[in-house]
Amino acid sequence: MSKENLHIDTQLIHGAYSPDEGTGATTLPLVQSTSFAYKTAEDLEAVFAGRAAGFVYSRINNPTLDLFERRMCVLENGLAGVASSSGMAAISVTVLALAGAGDEIVSGNSIFGGTYSLFGHTLGRYGITTRFVETTDVEAYRDAITDRTKLIFLETVGNPKMDVPDIRAIAAIAREKGVVLVVDNTVTTPVLVRPKDLSADIVIHSTSKYINGHGNAVGGMIIDSGTFDWSNPRYSHLKSSYDRFRTFAFVASLRNQVLRDLGCCFSPFNAFLMSVGIESLAVRMERHCTNAAAVAEFLARSDKVEESRYPGLQSHVDHEIAKRQFGDRYGGLLTLRLGTKERSFRFINGLKRAQNLANLGDAKTLVIHPASTLCREASESEKTAMGLTDDLVRFSIGLEHIDDILSDIDQSLKGL
Ligand SMILES: Cc1ncc(COP(=O)(O)O)c(C=O)c1O
Repeated sequence: MSKENLHIDTQLIHGAYSPDEGTGATTLPLVQSTSFAYKTAEDLEAVFAGRAAGFVYSRINNPTLDLFERRMCVLENGLAGVASSSGMAAISVTVLALAGAGDEIVSGNSIFGGTYSLFGHTLGRYGITTRFVETTDVEAYRDAITDRTKLIFLETVGNPKMDVPDIRAIAAIAREKGVVLVVDNTVTTPVLVRPKDLSADIVIHSTSKYINGHGNAVGGMIIDSGTFDWSNPRYSHLKSSYDRFRTFAFVASLRNQVLRDLGCCFSPFNAFLMSVGIESLAVRMERHCTNAAAVAEFLARSDKVEESRYPGLQSHVDHEIAKRQFGDRYGGLLTLRLGTKERSFRFINGLKRAQNLANLGDAKTLVIHPASTLCREASESEKTAMGLTDDLVRFSIGLEHIDDILSDIDQSLKGL
């Protein structure tokens, strides 16, 4: 329950917005305006100088984005947050607000392929290097931290490896070393876990996935838990922001500098769509979890499947950690191995309803062959680190009736 004593199911619907005072509108209003006019030059000067509250330009903020950000903050029990044009933008601007040339990231090695590429390749060109560690090896994080480390990065569930790091234990190391812990909560959402409760300092979302829930808009979100002391000399570049904004130093630097200058802003229309989608997140997650658990058990019994990975299976190596962290619910993602790439392709091609596409967290059941798509640029050693094999298939289990999901999978497996 939140500070206001409301369950998350209720916060999803009522958090940070009540009917509009002027119109009584119950749905968060879409303000599709680039700029905001002020009566006098003095008024606009005051807003630019931060002496008066107000919106200036939708690259920096906008009333619809503001309400969406506030609701996301309520859900993650955060201090403040900033929305961005995508999940990748959220990760990029977070790194750029915390690190510069010569600095380092310590990251779990089983993260989403796009983030792996950003950390392992793109950022290196700008002087930020990443030390990848085995995601579930807690002590490896301690060993990898140096004086130049500016953040530790984790996902709540490795994708597509499906491994589950002990976030609280890694957070204790981050705290001891005075390094910010950033956790990507895209695949579990605050319905399954609030990373702040496990002492994560910054929470990231690709809101394109479960938050939106219907595969119709791309967006991202960064939330500061309010747990980190931004006067820490490791982050001396944030000193002027700290002197002015204190606990809000990181979010202020993010919005007023990095995101403003890079321009990867969230569209108000996407924020509107997500605000509608998010209201049903709790019931959707419940159904994603029960459907995925049933599929995982079905696949575990099939003699056509070499291996299926789902943290909810008791045989999963991280089952106990997942159970503790996510309250006995394990999300909608799972993987299976079918022996060869050719068999995996035949299986995907044989599915009648599951859609073969690059996304997750949709109402529809989605399937993909990660090695030939999302992670196709990864080297062999990177693929090994990510737990990626040529015969691996990933499902994002949707909200359809479980009998129909199972019968689709069953008929395609029978065709192998
Ligand atoms: C865990 C995770 N984080 C971040 C991203 C990137 O999000 P976006 O596609 O919104 O840029 C993805 C995309 O699949 C993801 O799965």
